[in-house]
Amino acid sequence: MAKSLRLGLLVYLASVVYGASLWVPTTPQSPKPYALRKGLGIALGGGNTFPVTGNSSGKAFCLLNTNAGSSGGAGVFPHVHKKTYENFYAVKGRVQLWGQNLDGYLANASVQQTRILGPGDIGAIPPNTIHTFSLLEPDTQLTGVLVPGGFEEFFFNMELSPNPGASPGAGGLDLAGLAKWDVHPQLDFVPRRDVVNGRAGPGNWYDGPNSLPPNVSAPIWIAKNHGPKYLNSESGRYQIVTPFVTGQQTNNTFSQGTITLSPFADAKQKAPVVVSAVATAFMLEEGQLEVSVDGFEVAVLINGDIFFVPPNTHFSYATTAEFTKFMYVTGGGKGLDYDLTSKARVWDSAFYPQETAISAVQFERI
Ligand SMILES: *[C@@H]1O[C@H](CO)[C@@H](O)[C@H](O)[C@H]1NC(C)=O
Ligand SMILES: *[C@@H]1O[C@H](CO)[C@@H](O)[C@H](O)[C@H]1NC(C)=O
Ligand SMILES: *[C@@H]1O[C@H](CO)[C@@H](O)[C@H](O)[C@H]1NC(C)=O
Ligand SMILES: *[C@@H]1O[C@H](CO)[C@@H](O)[C@H](O)[C@H]1NC(C)=O
Repeated sequence: MAKSLRLGLLVYLASVVYGASLWVPTTPQSPKPYALRKGLGIALGGGNTFPVTGNSSGKAFCLLNTNAGSSGGAGVFPHVHKKTYENFYAVKGRVQLWGQNLDGYLANASVQQTRILGPGDIGAIPPNTIHTFSLLEPDTQLTGVLVPGGFEEFFFNMELSPNPGASPGAGGLDLAGLAKWDVHPQLDFVPRRDVVNGRAGPGNWYDGPNSLPPNVSAPIWIAKNHGPKYLNSESGRYQIVTPFVTGQQTNNTFSQGTITLSPFADAKQKAPVVVSAVATAFMLEEGQLEVSVDGFEVAVLINGDIFFVPPNTHFSYATTAEFTKFMYVTGGGKGLDYDLTSKARVWDSAFYPQETAISAVQFERI
């Protein structure tokens, strides 16, 4: 046997035994399970990276990380998407987001809202909502979720078709040409500047509960740990699910939130296999998460790392670090979070119970 053939056979056998690596150097161009280190993914400049795209998620959603300093004024001119949902999640620093339903604005029948989002806070902008935002700190990370995926083609194409004669308010863009990207400028919208205690306009912020509305005619604001929480105690471990949006707020197009995970009470417990009919992505926030997909080596995620699986992929996840926390996005109303919360109880703390020396059987009864 030729040396190279023998070597190739060895590599092949090794990959059968040990599985392929989930780690990829950048966002794939078609859906497959993958893991991406913090900061990797298709880059656009200006600190924008796309760890999940329409291409990589089968059009389910796009995940966009913006790591940048304070933008001074508004980061972008006020605009509306007619079909696209856009969630603004602050990971680091502070972000100010403004929003108002377009019809309410035009009829002077609703009140403009703004919030200053610190780490863990989210503003969810449904379609038909005017919005604009500003980064406020020297080291800010804004994680955007855009649904359906593929919207990001706008960002890439925008660079290619600048119109220097157009309104300076829109950075020299051809405003009329933006409609085909589902971007509808609202240049008359004046962002209010009367923020007190991180908010202006109706609704609670840090001063009370932030509930999920039954419909989405206005922005949804959830301050970290001030929204709904659910405690799932299945499989001898705890998972606190804090939804930002569920299928009910997104016409079943996606869900987003965080999961805070405990280690197994019994270290010999095997991680339960998860399979859902929609795409699933995780972004690690705290601790360490082992993710396992059939046919792949286990990948160990640390802060900022991304994990993605297409629909109907068998995978599992587990941690040995207390209070491991990750953000999830799923490509429909009935994903992982739905399965977990439908077998959970309403919970009112950011902490799971911390009994010691408790058996897996006792655990199920809590
Ligand atoms: C998505 O795929 C299309 C078709 O191959 C390609 O033209 C486009 O550049 C890709 N978009 C991104 C953001 O990678
Ligand atoms: C909009 O409504 C507010 C309060 O209802 C009112 O004070 C204001 O004058 C109205 N503005 C216009 C332009 O009609
Ligand atoms: C949407 O929900 C709000 C309460 O959050 C309610 O006041 C409003 O009437 C609802 N709108 C529709 C169209 O159901
Ligand atoms: C909700 O989704 C269904 C398809 O699943 C679509 O027919 C309907 O127009 C959507 N409604 C809105 C308000 O987008």
